[in-house]
Amino acid sequence: MTVAKKDIFGGSLLARPGKGLKGELTVPGDKSISHRAVMLASIASGVTEVTGFLEGEDNLSTIGALRAMGIVIEHKKDSGIVVVNGKGMRGLTEPADVIDAGNSGTTTRLITGLLSAQPFFSVITGDASLRKRPMKRVVEPLTLMGASISGRNNGNNLPLAIAGQRLKGITYKTPVASAQLKSSLMLAGIYADGATIIEEPEKSRDHTERMLRLFGADVKIDKNSVRVQSTNDLIGCKINVPGDISSAAFFIVGAMITPASALLIRGVGVNPTRTGIIDVLRKMGGSVELQNERVASGEPVADLLVKTSSLKGTEITGTGLLPAIDEFPIICIAAVFAEGTTKITGAKELRVKESDRIAVMAEALSRVGVRTTELPDGIVIEGVGSAAIKGGAIESHGDHRIAMSMAMAALRSDNGVEIDGAASVDVSFPGFFDQLDRVRGS
Ligand code: S3P
Repeated sequence: MTVAKKDIFGGSLLARPGKGLKGELTVPGDKSISHRAVMLASIASGVTEVTGFLEGEDNLSTIGALRAMGIVIEHKKDSGIVVVNGKGMRGLTEPADVIDAGNSGTTTRLITGLLSAQPFFSVITGDASLRKRPMKRVVEPLTLMGASISGRNNGNNLPLAIAGQRLKGITYKTPVASAQLKSSLMLAGIYADGATIIEEPEKSRDHTERMLRLFGADVKIDKNSVRVQSTNDLIGCKINVPGDISSAAFFIVGAMITPASALLIRGVGVNPTRTGIIDVLRKMGGSVELQNERVASGEPVADLLVKTSSLKGTEITGTGLLPAIDEFPIICIAAVFAEGTTKITGAKELRVKESDRIAVMAEALSRVGVRTTELPDGIVIEGVGSAAIKGGAIESHGDHRIAMSMAMAALRSDNGVEIDGAASVDVSFPGFFDQLDRVRGS
């Protein structure tokens, strides 16, 4: 067993050392796509059946928000099937209470765009981590479109109170490449008069664009710029959500850093705006092969065959990191077990994720015996090559991706890693520790 479950909910969990990862695995559905499926299905006409839906806490927050606005959503736990009875573009009704987005930045930012255009009043809030995260990036452009939003700290922090308005399309250059920001403006844009054009400094993940087209909307894409038109009707459809490459990433790195691994991860989404982890790991010498490439619900999908690899340190800049933005914690673990130094820069955004991921990873790695230097916009990691790390006790700061990354680091440790707040894995990967137990050698 990987874990000695002391108290998975209240306290800590001991992730043990292990040998190679072997066999086959499927990972839960893509988090970003699952959110968008429920949101667009709710404002489409007719029924949408979603399969492969991620039943993580973040996505359940999205279901809760849409139910609070009168949408009937059928969901049987552990089935991965969600049936949304869409009520059309004008079908949402005023929520009777504050919407709770939990830990989910995607729920908050996308739904704030949607709420800005509804003919009612609403309030949205979330947990302590989410209440610290910046909202001005969506509040400012939505206000330019005519939205009326107020919130703590001059509209930068939750709770946000939104008095829905008639919106007008704008052309907006985003200061950061953020799919949450782009998608928030697109969801407002399909309700706004005229066209809404969003130009990003780099192209962020494009799941909203792909799915809006699937529901019949007119979306034009030109390099880093997206244009949506006022839309009268979205049409319900069937959506098959692929496995989340951000969840697969933990097992990809886990297999590479342990001896005699051969792991096949089936049905993973390989949208090019998300596959930065594969590019980074290949550059480090990692062995990952894409097999059986296909397209499902407008998204590219493949099976990934991963083998034990001798990794070398590398340099990654902001541009290289964007398609792997959520993989920073697990890239750090690949760097730990690489030969030489890895330097990651240009990644300031990581300071405003579910935790300050630069500071939290630097702290966790130093606790398990790894030498790191924290930079304002990144980190330098001294790899241990083929050696093991000591291990020790770390804090996840409630951040799911920190907990899962450190569980993989434990595989190559002398004493294991005791992870405080390990239950946070449920945010994006319920059953993570069971899956790890299934494919690991002891
Ligand atoms: C997401 C976009 C990214 C990512 C987050 C999910 C999305 O955030 O980090 O986990 O579903 O749109 P930003 O858009 O803030 O970069």
